[in-house]
Amino acid sequence: MEIIDKDINQYAEQHSSDEGELLKQINRDTHAKVMKPRMLSGHLQGRVLSMISHMIKPERILEIGTYTGYSAICLAEGLRPGGKLVTIDVNEELEDRVRKYFDAAHLSDKVEYLIGNAATLIPTLSDEFDLVFIDADKEQYSKYFDLVIDKVKAGGIILADNVLWSGKVLDAKPDKDTRAILEFNNKIQADTRVENVLLPIRDGIMMIRKLSL
Ligand SMILES: C[S@@+](CC[C@H](N)C(=O)[O-])C[C@H]1O[C@@H](n2cnc3c(N)ncnc32)[C@H](O)[C@@H]1O
Repeated sequence: MEIIDKDINQYAEQHSSDEGELLKQINRDTHAKVMKPRMLSGHLQGRVLSMISHMIKPERILEIGTYTGYSAICLAEGLRPGGKLVTIDVNEELEDRVRKYFDAAHLSDKVEYLIGNAATLIPTLSDEFDLVFIDADKEQYSKYFDLVIDKVKAGGIILADNVLWSGKVLDAKPDKDTRAILEFNNKIQADTRVENVLLPIRDGIMMIRKLSL
């Protein structure tokens, strides 16, 4: 189920900044040649990610779930000079394609692209992050949050994608993935270390700000 009316979404895209040629090409290639292209953030969500990143001007960004690199490139648009984006994906089959896209975006020196299981790799990261985008493996969302929260600077932002799960969060009998999302949303809502707002954009983005305690 699409949560946002198709025509409204199209109108919103028509009244949002252009995504640029490279991102359009990644979107087209992903739909033509890669499995599960619906996973790609797309024009509207990509512009939201870019806008948020520009507002924060992060020094360090962490992305969990690179896929074909679309959202990484959007998030990197807001990096401050000398900034770096770390992005993690378990799927090594996409590596060559994604590295080509990062080269084409002139991001190779700003992106650290790690192949492997996020739950294993996150504890090895020594950076502190201003912005984190959680977009992999819905069952692990709560775990990813626990692993990153101490690596996020006070005032830093965590974004988690797909928190409305095609509207299934309202199901009377939620399936396993939906239960994981419900558990994550409830966990964030109850966590006194953060404030949060659930944005009903595309499939739902939970925006979480770490408080200075
Ligand atoms: C929804 S896609 C990411 C989409 C991308 N952020 C975008 O908006 O264009 C989810 C990605 O998470 C990756 N993934 C799934 N489980 C993972 C894990 N345990 N560790 C790291 N990456 C994982 C998948 O391989 C997939 O590429």
